[in-house]
Amino acid sequence: MSHERLPTDRPAVVTVGLPYANGDLHVGHLRGYVGGDLYARALRRVGQQTAFVCGSDMHGTPVAVNAAEQGVDPETFALEWHEQYSERFPAFNVEFDNYGHTHDETNTELTQAFVSTWIDGDHILEREIEVAYDPEADRWLPDRYVEGTCPYCGEPARGDECDEGCQRHLEPGEIEDPTSTLTSNEAEYRTREHKFLRLSDFQAYLQEFIDRLDGTENASNQPREWIEGELQDLCITRDMDWGIDYPGSAADDLVLYVWVDAPIEYVASTKQYSERVGAETYDWEAVWKVGNETRPGTEWNKEWFEDSGEIIHVIGRDIIQHHTVFWPAMLRGAGYNEPRAVLATGFVGIDGKSLSTSRNRAIWAKEYLDAGFHPDLFRYYITTGSGLERDVDFSWDRFAQRVNSELVGSLGNFCYRALLFAHRNYGGTPDTAVSEAVSERIETALDTFEDGVAAYDIRTIGNVGIELADFGNEYIQRHEPWNLIDEDPEKAAQVIRDCVQLTKACAVLVQPVMPAKATRLWEQFEETGDPGEATLEDALTPPPSQFGEPAELFSQVEDDHIADLNETLRQRVAEASEDDGSTETGDEATPADIEPLEDDRISFEQFRDLDVRVGEIVTAEPIEDADELVVLEVDLGVETRQVVAGIKQRHDLGTLPGTRVIVLANMETAELFGYESDGMVLAAGAEADLLTTHGDAPPGTQVR
Ligand code: MSP
Ligand code: ZN
Repeated sequence: MSHERLPTDRPAVVTVGLPYANGDLHVGHLRGYVGGDLYARALRRVGQQTAFVCGSDMHGTPVAVNAAEQGVDPETFALEWHEQYSERFPAFNVEFDNYGHTHDETNTELTQAFVSTWIDGDHILEREIEVAYDPEADRWLPDRYVEGTCPYCGEPARGDECDEGCQRHLEPGEIEDPTSTLTSNEAEYRTREHKFLRLSDFQAYLQEFIDRLDGTENASNQPREWIEGELQDLCITRDMDWGIDYPGSAADDLVLYVWVDAPIEYVASTKQYSERVGAETYDWEAVWKVGNETRPGTEWNKEWFEDSGEIIHVIGRDIIQHHTVFWPAMLRGAGYNEPRAVLATGFVGIDGKSLSTSRNRAIWAKEYLDAGFHPDLFRYYITTGSGLERDVDFSWDRFAQRVNSELVGSLGNFCYRALLFAHRNYGGTPDTAVSEAVSERIETALDTFEDGVAAYDIRTIGNVGIELADFGNEYIQRHEPWNLIDEDPEKAAQVIRDCVQLTKACAVLVQPVMPAKATRLWEQFEETGDPGEATLEDALTPPPSQFGEPAELFSQVEDDHIADLNETLRQRVAEASEDDGSTETGDEATPADIEPLEDDRISFEQFRDLDVRVGEIVTAEPIEDADELVVLEVDLGVETRQVVAGIKQRHDLGTLPGTRVIVLANMETAELFGYESDGMVLAAGAEADLLTTHGDAPPGTQVR
């Protein structure tokens, strides 16, 4: 480790990879957010002044493509997700000091200032390159608008990243066999002038930087090969209108590449926090700048940076290159401080397969909360199950097993037993001193905690409180105070005094991983104040002499509940694999007779004019003399409608009652073969394959 041990007397900032504001968060995303939150809390606990910041990543094709699919403009779309994340994180007790977004004024201004400094420092060049173009859609195809093969590892890749293969960033024009995701046509390469950040200017700097960098090993090992080889220039502009304008080119249709303004949000978000609380409370410039100034260049000089703060990035392993190559060069070129540590988490998957948002192969953050589990259980499970770098599978079985044995069985059981015994026999903490052996054991735990913080070891920090509870359980069992109370009352008081202190130390130590549970425990022995504000020394100060009857901290996760969750997950994974199969075998490849997709777009408002509902077929009767027509009674929740539908070809009428279908409820009424049709059921293709629902949306539910 090349840096002064943490805590230092300079301010620190902990950041987590910004979520793209483009869809639901899943348990994989949460691994980093919970890990970062735990680490920031632990840093504060050891006395380091710490800001914990993040924000939504609003720009780029990940947002633009999904917004277009929904027919919404990217800004409205991204802001909606931004609002949702702002509520979702606190629901997992992930509490940022500031949660901004990349489209706000602070970030826009800072980003343009960064780029201007690079221009002034002569690190920007213009070059004509070949860029993918879709002649039919008459559009350039930046990043996720193009798919093809990775030139480095041969795996399928998206425009700017080899996400299923070697994880490399791909420059425009690099992807092989490009096809347009807009039309599925082969893309053409056309010449276009773009701006580049000359990374080779920073090569010598980066080679030294990577040797200084702390954090997980993967973060400094993975980029070495790139930094030592020839550094390719980084294209920093894109042919899009959604993003931050390249400075001075407002009229042009070039915006900055999303990976330019996204990491700058780390700085912008810290700045917003500092402006809110005042620089005397937290000074963003003392962290990010070099002696509160910028010193652009390509050199690094130890003395300049000595007074700057501690920058710690927590990210997933897929974005290591962005944080250890591009980002330090961007910072150096703009004259800012450099990251002290990068902690890159392994990926969370299910059954050995990666999570897939688009294929619905995921356990969603909301789903976890809807299942009624306390957020702190997830926090404990995801941060302490394995080392941070390892890829892990999320398993409900394992989750239940660990909650039941480690939280209910060890921590919960110990605290409850100790406090109940103390309350019943002494009305609170017995009036005697803690034994030396137990004080020492607590001190060892505090050292482990401090070493864990200094070594960025999230798992150790998360585990230390539970290990202390294991000791406590063993201690109480060995001394059997329930027998001692008559035989040797003095010894009994001593044992319980020790146990109450151990309980208090547990509350202090588990706070970073389970903040809400720690508060509950804290309140049980009627400590005043917030355990979040406690210092490590508080683990050794005596708890109040009186407290009431404790309550259980955790409850058992039931087998039936887990069986249900497993079944839901199994079905979902099976469906996701079917999707995989069909794309691999090409069974559903577009036959020549399928109509091309409609070019004319409708607005979201126009779509909203359609009143589309879930209905349930009550009866289905054939119409004599009409080959295809059927008279249906359809329950729409609020009323039952008669609908005539041409669906006899493919469907056995006897099986239809009870089937959920999709009905256009505000279709104008019509008369067919003498029957009134009040609505239209939706069906696919000439054979009228009825559309149905996937989950259990009840009749009357609006389709959006
Ligand atoms: N917007 C970029 C990051 C910009 S940082 C300046 C991004 N967004 S993301 O929404 O795709 O991912 C957000 C964070 O979650 C990233 O740190 C990413 O590595 C992490 N993860 C996404 N899926 C994950 C798993 N399945 N498992 C663990 N972490 C995961 O990347
Ligand atoms: Zn690759």
